[in-house]
Amino acid sequence: MSGLIWPDAERLLAAAGKRLGIPYTLSTVASQTPETVAPHLGTHGWFQMYPPRDPEIRADMLSRAKAAGFKALVLTVDVPVASRRERQVRSGLTTPPRLTPRLMAQVALRPAWALGTARMGMPRMRLIDEYAGNLTGMSSTAHAGYLLRTSPDWDYLHWLRDNWDGPFIVKGVLRASDAVKLEEAGVDALWVSNHAGRQFDAAPASIEALPAIRAATSLPLILDSGIETGLDILRARARGADFVMMGRGFHIALAALGARGPDHLVDILAKDMAANMGQIGARDLREISKTFP
Ligand SMILES: Cc1cc2nc3c(=O)[nH]c(=O)nc-3n(C[C@H](O)[C@H](O)[C@H](O)COP(=O)(O)O)c2cc1C
Repeated sequence: MSGLIWPDAERLLAAAGKRLGIPYTLSTVASQTPETVAPHLGTHGWFQMYPPRDPEIRADMLSRAKAAGFKALVLTVDVPVASRRERQVRSGLTTPPRLTPRLMAQVALRPAWALGTARMGMPRMRLIDEYAGNLTGMSSTAHAGYLLRTSPDWDYLHWLRDNWDGPFIVKGVLRASDAVKLEEAGVDALWVSNHAGRQFDAAPASIEALPAIRAATSLPLILDSGIETGLDILRARARGADFVMMGRGFHIALAALGARGPDHLVDILAKDMAANMGQIGARDLREISKTFP
C-alpha cells in the first residue's frame, strides 16, 4: 500500500526516518525488499513481520532483515484473518491495481505519481513474491495469504523470541492481560494499536486501552492508530505511551508533497507539541502529567 500511495514510499520514509532520527518500520508486505531499503536506513530501522507459516521462510526473512540492518523485529498480531474492507472493494482497489478506464483517468490527473510509478513499476509485494515460487497463478493477495500464517500463537512467539537477538516488539496489543503475558514471554516492548481501525470495527480506540496496559506492565509502550496532531502525541504521553508511531499521516504527507512531505509533517507536529506544552507550562515531556486533557 505504501508503494501504491506514493512511488518509492518505503525508501523515502526510511530516508526521512534517518534524517529525522525516528524509527521506520518496513512491512513484510511492502513493495520494497529489506535489501533495497537497507542503504537508506538509519539506526532505527525496524522490520515488521506477518508470520510466515513455513519455518524456512520465517528463518530466511529474519536473517535477511538482520543482514540488511534492521535492528528491531515487530510481530503484528492483530490480523488473524483478512478484514472486509468494503470501501476498498467498492472502489475497485486491488493488489496489484487493475488498469480500468476509471483508474487511467485518475492517473492522468496525477502526473507526478504516474511518472514515479512508471519509473518504479507497478507496486507488488516484492518480498512475498520472492517466496511465492511455484504459487504462480495466484493473485499477490492470495499468495500473501497462503504464505503468511496470520494467527501466531504463543509457541510461534517463543520461537521468534529465541531466533531474534535484537529488540522484539509485539504490535496490536489492546488488553492488559495480554501485556502481562507478553512481558513474561520476554518481549522488549509493546505496540498498542488497533491497526488504524481497519481490522475490527468493535476494537477499542488504542488511546482508551492504553492506561490499563500502562498499569499492567513496565515494558516500553508505543501507541498508534489515530495520531494526527502534536496534541494527540501529548495526550498519548500523558496516558502512558513512551512514544507514538504514525501510519496514515506520513503516507498522506508523501502523497501531498512527495519527498518533502515527512519533514513537513514532523515540523507541524513539533510546533503543535511546543504550542500545546506552552499552554500548560510544561518545559519538557516529563512534565506532561496524567491529568493532561
Ligand atoms: C494503508 C495501510 C497499510 C498498512 N499496512 C500494515 C502492514 O503491512 N503491517 C502492519 O503491521 N500494519 C499495517 N498498517 C497499520 C499501521 O502499521 C498502523 O498501525 C496504523 O496505520 C496506525 O494508525 P494511523 O494510520 O492512524 O497512524 C497499515 C495501515 C494502513 C493505513
